[in-house]
Amino acid sequence: MAPDGQILAPNVYDAEPIPPAAREAIDQLLASGDLFRYTAAKDAPVALLEAEFAELMGARYALAVSSCSAALFLSLKALDLPRGAKVLIPAFTFAAVPSAVVHANCVPVLVEVGANYRVDMADFAAKLPGAAAVLISHMRGHTSDMDAIMALCDAAGVPVVEDAAHSLGTEWHGRKIGTIGKIGCFSFQSYKLVNAGEGGILVTDDPELAARAVIMSGAYEHNWKKHPGLQNSYMRWQNALPLYNMRMQNLSAAVIRPQLPEVAGRVAKGRAGHDRVAARLNQSPWLCVPEALPPEERAPDSIQFNLKGRWSDAEALLFQAEAKQRGVAVQVFGLSQDNARAFWNWQFLGDIPDLPKTRAMLMRACDVRLPTRLTEAELDFIASALVDAAVDVMG
Ligand SMILES: Cc1ncc(COP(=O)(O)O)c(C=O)c1O
Repeated sequence: MAPDGQILAPNVYDAEPIPPAAREAIDQLLASGDLFRYTAAKDAPVALLEAEFAELMGARYALAVSSCSAALFLSLKALDLPRGAKVLIPAFTFAAVPSAVVHANCVPVLVEVGANYRVDMADFAAKLPGAAAVLISHMRGHTSDMDAIMALCDAAGVPVVEDAAHSLGTEWHGRKIGTIGKIGCFSFQSYKLVNAGEGGILVTDDPELAARAVIMSGAYEHNWKKHPGLQNSYMRWQNALPLYNMRMQNLSAAVIRPQLPEVAGRVAKGRAGHDRVAARLNQSPWLCVPEALPPEERAPDSIQFNLKGRWSDAEALLFQAEAKQRGVAVQVFGLSQDNARAFWNWQFLGDIPDLPKTRAMLMRACDVRLPTRLTEAELDFIASALVDAAVDVMG
């Protein structure tokens, strides 16, 4: 707020603040030096986080790791996919997702994504035969048609991993996203609903998958005894699987745990803030926020919208510049150089298929962060800046 009471452009890049309750736990850890998750006989912060997160999600097992990317990689390894196995992923996701597939010695098959940011089900059904697994990124928290995806995958006997990096708190028919497929993976990187700088967690109800992921995450020797679950499963995989050492350390868990009780409040605020801005943008003849699918209850901490009508690339770039001039950073995914969410930049894949639907969407889809801590005045500031920038360019 400026001294004259005027609202200044909000800073949307600062992450969610860490609750003061984290400080005491961190001080204790610093005093004891006990930062490794497996030193304490029991109740290490990482173990407590896993128990609390599993309960929050209603899942049997949770495994905290160094990042969501690590969780995705371990999920694919836990599924024991053969080298070269095809894994379907949406073509609209972050580069870390195809990277996790490549890292697991599998081959990502990119599926078209429509103008509503969700998996194109006709392309999905066409590409499913021959796939060994499906990794659904609920990119930016947009849930694809999980009823159709699960029906097709169950019928084909193909396991589904959910990349719920942006979906903590999102529900589908009242069911928590991340608990619909065999494994769900979440991120605690700073630009997510829960901020630990870095970190990730996976949840599953399957004891074999949990045991395999625990061992490979780096539960060497008998450290797996500090994980609840079926001892037989752990004994079976002990020494039989490689260790990738992707463990979470206690300091990260100490930062995350006090934020878990805040998730419900952040979800409600994030949804209200998103919908407030979306209502304003949808009044513009030039902007459009696609509707969620009916079973989805969203938990957004950012907003995506499309430039509606006949925009040229030059006009879209001008819109970005006009919004920036007003203090609001907006990114048209496909028009920012080297964007990690534009599939044509994933050169590590080698041959990149032509995906005209996804490409068309990315060339006109805009991305603006809306951290849940923003006030209504700040949200209105952002909405006005975007609407006015569109008018400036398109009249
Ligand atoms: C859709 C999606 N999946 C996975 C990841 C990877 O998360 P992390 O940074 O925790 O590895 C990201 C990162 O932002 C993401 O956007």
